[in-house]
Amino acid sequence: MAKELGIKKVAIPSAGNAASAMAAYAAAAGMEAHIFMPVDVPQANFIECKSFGAHVTLIDGLISDCAKIVAERKEKEGWFDVSTLKEPYRIEGKKTMGYEVAEQFQWTLPDVIFYPTGGGVGMIGMWKAFDEMEALGWIGPKRPKMIAVQADGCQPVVRAFETGAERSEFWQNASTVSSGLRVPKPLGDYLILEAVRKSGGTAIAVSDEESLDAGIELATLDGVFAAPEGAACVAALKKLLDRGFLKPDERIVIYNTGAGLKYLEAYSTRYPRLSGGEADKLGGLITPR
Ligand SMILES: Cc1ncc(COP(=O)(O)O)c(C=O)c1O
Repeated sequence: MAKELGIKKVAIPSAGNAASAMAAYAAAAGMEAHIFMPVDVPQANFIECKSFGAHVTLIDGLISDCAKIVAERKEKEGWFDVSTLKEPYRIEGKKTMGYEVAEQFQWTLPDVIFYPTGGGVGMIGMWKAFDEMEALGWIGPKRPKMIAVQADGCQPVVRAFETGAERSEFWQNASTVSSGLRVPKPLGDYLILEAVRKSGGTAIAVSDEESLDAGIELATLDGVFAAPEGAACVAALKKLLDRGFLKPDERIVIYNTGAGLKYLEAYSTRYPRLSGGEADKLGGLITPR
């Protein structure tokens, strides 16, 4: 849409992956990309954005600090602001997740959907897609229980859900290896909360340790090496089954939103790079003659 509307320069504050995606599309469309992301963003995101030729500024802060800088500079610089939920089209793109699940379930919906919730666009987009598909007569009125999964170190939506609030409060000192979930105050928090509540779902946080454990278990058992955000949903599923909130015979869908390979810093805490000597101590090093 940006290309169709004749936009030449786009800017984004990002926790990492939205920046990578925007940089790629901007490169393909011949647009200038201006990216502001936290200095401790996964290195994969930084390398991708630079490789796509984007102008990258690293900020000693969070996505919320990046957003302030874009807002301050965009007018003077002539940038179109692609911040989460500040333009209408990203959510239209994320509706695809709702269409695909309906199509793959033969135009019904599953009983439960787990979604790792940062800015919430995926959750809000799917919810919009369901309503629109019902209006088109493609699906019925039944909705999945929508489960918003966050990280212990940044869980504004979970806190608001638990306290019955309509909006979230800024989460101080947000910190998690699930960088996509490091959004201290989602702009569309009230829309996320509405979807979760109307669907009879819930919001739940898991620790980084639980996410990485679940990521490795998922890889071992199913051959899927997921981003910690997706793995967080697997950890959350276990908790909700243990609590009896969900039953094993329900049709449950988990969205994995990223590849584990983008998060080598996080998974390296489990499998650090070994020097030759260290590998030898573990009995595994063979020196070819
Ligand atoms: C891997 C990953 N998962 C989940 C999210 C959260 O997405 P949403 O804004 O749809 O809540 C992000 C956002 O940055 C992400 O990068």
